[in-house]
Amino acid sequence: MSPSELSDLFDLADFVVQRPARDPAAGPWTIQERAYPRAGALSERIRFALGYAILAPSIRNSQPWRFRLRCDDATERGALELRLDRARVPVVADPEGRAATISCGAALATLTLALSRLELPHAVTRLPDGAGDRLALVRFDPALPRPEPLAPEEQWMFQCVGKRRTMRGPMAARPLAERLTRRFRELARASGAELITLAPEDPRRAALVELIEEGEALQSADPRFVDELARWTLSPGAASEGRASGLRRAPGLRTFTVLREDGARAARGEELSDGSPVMAILTTEGDAPGDWLRAGAALVRVLLRGRVDHVWASFFGQPLERPELRARLGEVIRAAGSAARWPQVALRLGHGGEVPPSPRRDVAAVLEQDDEELV
Ligand SMILES: Cc1cc2nc3c(=O)[nH]c(=O)nc-3n(C[C@H](O)[C@H](O)[C@H](O)COP(=O)(O)O)c2cc1C
Repeated sequence: MSPSELSDLFDLADFVVQRPARDPAAGPWTIQERAYPRAGALSERIRFALGYAILAPSIRNSQPWRFRLRCDDATERGALELRLDRARVPVVADPEGRAATISCGAALATLTLALSRLELPHAVTRLPDGAGDRLALVRFDPALPRPEPLAPEEQWMFQCVGKRRTMRGPMAARPLAERLTRRFRELARASGAELITLAPEDPRRAALVELIEEGEALQSADPRFVDELARWTLSPGAASEGRASGLRRAPGLRTFTVLREDGARAARGEELSDGSPVMAILTTEGDAPGDWLRAGAALVRVLLRGRVDHVWASFFGQPLERPELRARLGEVIRAAGSAARWPQVALRLGHGGEVPPSPRRDVAAVLEQDDEELV
């Protein structure tokens, strides 16, 4: 067996083998709602809710979020600021911090879902584009209305925060129910984005596959990209709090694994379409940080709603990480008559099996608390 075949098998083992319970990756994933300190200080309750936010997906598992909390436990008033952590943006793949801001949007939407579930009165303000890396402010005040109880669907989605994973393994060939893909589109729209779902017979799939392949070739020939990818990814089985496991290591960004007679390896060519029960492109009207935050909220809601019905997802970053390919993906969408404009995330969705969680930095590593005057 050649070294590359061996490495493919290890990649495969990464999603079929459960890690031992003492794996540090499991820590933040073991959060239990019944441990919520309902009678505790406000700062303690906010920290608990952040335990859900940090489970959001992020490009290369970079977890590029920073939270700053100013809180007066006596009056129960507080403000939590969300910032993009530029030091954690994989700049070769994401020079503008677009995908990193999408990741922050996913964390913010997960946080607000948790705050509503935990019935903590709060109000979210997205900061105007141009506020630098300050993205949003969440205010806490007992004078604010108590959040409405979550609808049953949202409760299930909340229960899935700790069960969602990126699944880069083979998916069952069976199609997704149309009611489910319709629901994904509705949820994306309600978050201010549009999800274009491409069923197996959709002619736009061929164009997407071509762009994924072109992106893969360009990226694996770019030493800066290869070096950055290697720095952000882990060998399977190893654990580190701030990097991605389950991603194929250099030279290329792994799409997903297929099982073939000649072994397990990354999907290529027609396999990319064959192994994707649904291919989807998440798009927004504009292309500014506010749009990216909305895309992140839409993304995580689609992923959580999918997980409720045992639907898993993985990403096709290649066409979005090269500006020239992203522009062509935009043309593909527009040529097909879609009103949606800017492609933000490309995904595959389908039924599949369990995979182990990726490591996370814990709340203490991403939260600063200070006693300055509240704004
Ligand atoms: C905006 C964004 C882009 C991503 N792009 C890719 C990608 O191109 N390839 C990939 O395998 N995973 C991609 N991911 C998935 C992350 O690698 C994954 O979320 C991270 O490793 C954490 O793992 P988890 O989702 O299982 O919690 C992306 C995630 C986000 C939010």
